Amino acid sequence: MPQTVQGVIAREKGADVELVNVIVPDPGPGEAVVKVDACGVCHTDLHYREGGIGDDFPYLLGHEAAGVVESVGAGVTDVTPGDFVILNWRAVCGHCRACRRGRPWYCFDTFTATQKMTLEDGTELTAALGIGAFADKTLVHSGQCTKVDSTAPATAAGLLGCGVMAGLGAALNTGGVTRGDSVAVIGCGGVGAAAIAGARLAGASKVIAVDIDPRKLDKATELGASDTVNAKDDDVVKAVRALTDGFGADVVIDAVGSPETWKQAFYARDLAGTVVLVGVPTPEMTIEMPLAHLFGKGGSLKSSWYGDCLPSRDFPMLVDLYLQGRLPLDAFVTETIGLADVEVAFGKMHAGDVLRSVVIW
Ligand SMILES: NC(=O)c1ccc[n+]([C@@H]2O[C@H](COP(=O)([O-])OP(=O)(O)OC[C@H]3O[C@@H](n4cnc5c(N)ncnc54)[C@H](O)[C@@H]3O)[C@@H](O)[C@H]2O)c1
Ligand SMILES: [Zn+2]
Ligand SMILES: [Zn+2]
Repeated sequence: MPQTVQGVIAREKGADVELVNVIVPDPGPGEAVVKVDACGVCHTDLHYREGGIGDDFPYLLGHEAAGVVESVGAGVTDVTPGDFVILNWRAVCGHCRACRRGRPWYCFDTFTATQKMTLEDGTELTAALGIGAFADKTLVHSGQCTKVDSTAPATAAGLLGCGVMAGLGAALNTGGVTRGDSVAVIGCGGVGAAAIAGARLAGASKVIAVDIDPRKLDKATELGASDTVNAKDDDVVKAVRALTDGFGADVVIDAVGSPETWKQAFYARDLAGTVVLVGVPTPEMTIEMPLAHLFGKGGSLKSSWYGDCLPSRDFPMLVDLYLQGRLPLDAFVTETIGLADVEVAFGKMHAGDVLRSVVIW
């Protein structure tokens, strides 16, 4: 029997989000219904509401979540009812060229549920990133459910479903940060702060946090930054060089995603160092610079999509590290809120007041 639950939708571009009744169908072949326990408020949810991702309104928002599998459809063998899972937006297909080449984190044919959740009048909803977890229950593809240790609280585990994974992975997977590296992270919101935690976890000897907001720099220090640079007061490139014996950092992560910060990342890097772009630029942004500088600096210029994560590999491992006290996920949760408070949380996020507001049930 289809179930009626409460969910948060963006009905049209720019309008405040609404809490409405959502119809969740029974899971079909390959699908699962998940009872959501926690779902973080991510910048991408706001982008959806503002029409920045697409025009498939109404959207059922929320995608950074953990919960318990309630029921599964025909043919589902990877998860069973009662499993504690983190929802992912990279359920890899196993068959595309990237998967067959052994690089499934570049899979371009990822799975989402086949059926749609709807409003009571039958209007089909588009689930944000194929998840739609600002809802009591949601319908996903079973491959989007990654089973992890159920002793982890959902508030912490759910963070790995998006922003924190993107930041951790930007350092660990894309940037390949390792012992003794010097790392600078520009922009220390949820994503950048996670990149700092990731660099520390990997054994970087110097982790430089750069932001324009002193509150974010304090938080970055708490998460393991060894040095901070306030980009409002100081020249970022000079400051990073000064903190790295004049060389520049081995890896610089741009967690803002603007031409200004990307250029800072480019020039604040040592010869043959790595730039990782994890902040998402808008379509009108362009960059102009001498090609000779690209040649002369060498190294690699990379982008990081979802931290190049492979959920089945990375989520259980990161949850284990959290449970051992080696990954401070709780420090990312600024507040827990109710489903009716998402709009207010967007305001706090926009004002830079929070790393993460997390909806809990
Ligand atoms: N690549 C991915 O897979 C992925 C996944 C999730 C989010 N993101 C993107 O990552 C970016 C960061 O997300 P977030 O949730 O951390 O956002 P956020 O708003 O919480 O953080 C942005 C931080 O950058 C700082 N900042 C702004 N301008 C700056 C400047 N010129 N110099 C230094 N610091 C500056 C802000 O003070 C803030 O602390 C966004 O663009 C988001 O869309 C990417
Ligand atoms: Zn694939
Ligand atoms: Zn997100």
